[in-house]
Amino acid sequence: MLSVQENLPVEFSASLLAKCAEIVTRYPAGKQKSALLPILHEVQAEFGWLSTDAMDKVAAFLQIKPIEVYEVATFYTMYFLKPQGKFALEICRTGPCCLVGAEKIMNHIEQRLGVKEGEVTADGLFSWRGVECLAACGYGPVLQIGPEYTFYENLTEESVDNLIETLRNKAKEA
Ligand code: FES
Repeated sequence: MLSVQENLPVEFSASLLAKCAEIVTRYPAGKQKSALLPILHEVQAEFGWLSTDAMDKVAAFLQIKPIEVYEVATFYTMYFLKPQGKFALEICRTGPCCLVGAEKIMNHIEQRLGVKEGEVTADGLFSWRGVECLAACGYGPVLQIGPEYTFYENLTEESVDNLIETLRNKAKEA
């Protein structure tokens, strides 16, 4: 994943453009706007988030207006409109998970990472935020990490510490 600072222009790689072109072929001719959601996922996977410039380039690629991209990207919470950590932890904060300790887990993550919700750690590795129900209500507290949306369930402070350590080690090996 590339790191993109806010407001800097981005360049789509040849492989990203090829993926976008392939996605467009899944839809009838002239209906290329239907490819918007999966293309935004690909762009986010490449850059870690969707900058204005990246969204403008998607609009140009699909031959639609930039506002048509903005209105979709700002509607769905799975799209990040600010830079994120390499690992963006999303913790369910809806009622059933709160009943089994989600708030305690979020407080622990904030302490452990030393950043508030929406901020990125100095090493660029982590960010976190609370999100609404992740549809794993029987296994709370739960968090997910994109872009594969891997789930981690029945969280405890100890399992969160282990997860953060594992992810740090994974980043070192990469
Ligand atoms: Fe947390 Fe549904 S309330 S996954």
